[in-house]
Amino acid sequence: MRLLIIGGTRFLGHALTEAALRAGHTVTLLHRGTAGCAVLPEAEHLHAERDGGLEVLGDRTWDTVIDTCGQLPRVVEASATRLRPRAGRYLFISTISVYADPLPSGVTEDAPVATLADPRTEALSNETYGGLKALCESRVRAAFGAEALIVRPGLIVGPRDYTDRFPYWIRRLADGGEVLAPGNPEQRVQFIDARDLATFCLHLLDTGAGGTLHVTGPTAPLTMRAFLEGASTALGSHATFTWLDEAFLRETGVHPWTELPLWVPATDAAFSAVDLGRAVAAGLHCRPMADTVRDTLTWERALPDGARTGSPAMTREREADLLLRWRRRS
Ligand SMILES: NC(=O)c1ccc[n+]([C@@H]2O[C@H](COP(=O)([O-])OP(=O)(O)OC[C@H]3O[C@@H](n4cnc5c(N)ncnc54)[C@H](OP(=O)(O)O)[C@@H]3O)[C@@H](O)[C@H]2O)c1
Repeated sequence: MRLLIIGGTRFLGHALTEAALRAGHTVTLLHRGTAGCAVLPEAEHLHAERDGGLEVLGDRTWDTVIDTCGQLPRVVEASATRLRPRAGRYLFISTISVYADPLPSGVTEDAPVATLADPRTEALSNETYGGLKALCESRVRAAFGAEALIVRPGLIVGPRDYTDRFPYWIRRLADGGEVLAPGNPEQRVQFIDARDLATFCLHLLDTGAGGTLHVTGPTAPLTMRAFLEGASTALGSHATFTWLDEAFLRETGVHPWTELPLWVPATDAAFSAVDLGRAVAAGLHCRPMADTVRDTLTWERALPDGARTGSPAMTREREADLLLRWRRRS
């Protein structure tokens, strides 16, 4: 396959590019060149800002476009419209955040998507992210019809994760000792290794699949307790867990998801329990969690000082303070 990946150099895109090259596909990457020129030398690199800079594509043709970095409907519409006569298919990386509130547990791909108060807004924020992605999806479907493939990932994890969400837990568990464990131990968590997501996207393209799919994991339900204990075992860590309930976390102003990644209040639990039936039927396979956990730690430990780019999650000082206050209260 001749693939054009819009993006492709950072995290999921990097995994997609590596998997595509390994599978023998020819890969062209369109990006601005932020990662420098040493990254992924086996791929062809076209440097441009996608918003207004698509003339760099000329009249070249590709079998498939994979768009990993579409956030604004106007910009995605421009690439989909330009590439429609020049590419067979368009795979758009969307998100499970597209849905309208309230999200039902076990939400399927057919649930209504969020609408924006101002659909012309280009202000990207936590509030507009899902609605904008939903509009981007509709622009891709309008241009490519049955040749549009919309992939809605949940939390993406594994090596090269620049968000510091999953890596927070891996570092913390590897350090051992008393770990603050958030909320209800039986609450579901979902995430997908970027490498499994990449392999699955290529598999979908190989099989000619179309439509819209959630892609997250694992394929069997996982609880927060099983995640923390399983990851701790995989790391050979001697962590112990003190579970702080949701009311206490709220009282003390702990920010769900950002300050304690993977933790959401019970009212948002459906976000980590989306239906995977369609992806599983299409052949989704997730590697053992232990492999993702260990590979993430190896990658983290090899990062040069100061190379971490995500917003900082909870500090050890804040964790110790919260544990102390919890013990006093109890
Ligand atoms: N992380 C998660 O947990 C999560 C969950 C659900 C969905 N998603 C979605 O998954 C995708 C993940 O992206 P990723 O960062 O992992 O992909 P990536 O393809 O590895 O990185 C983003 C790429 O886009 C390029 N890029 C960014 N802005 C650009 C612009 N204006 N013009 C041209 N190139 C541009 C970047 O290179 P340059 O900077 O050099 O241009 C980089 O190559 C996103 O669409 C996100 O919404 C993420």
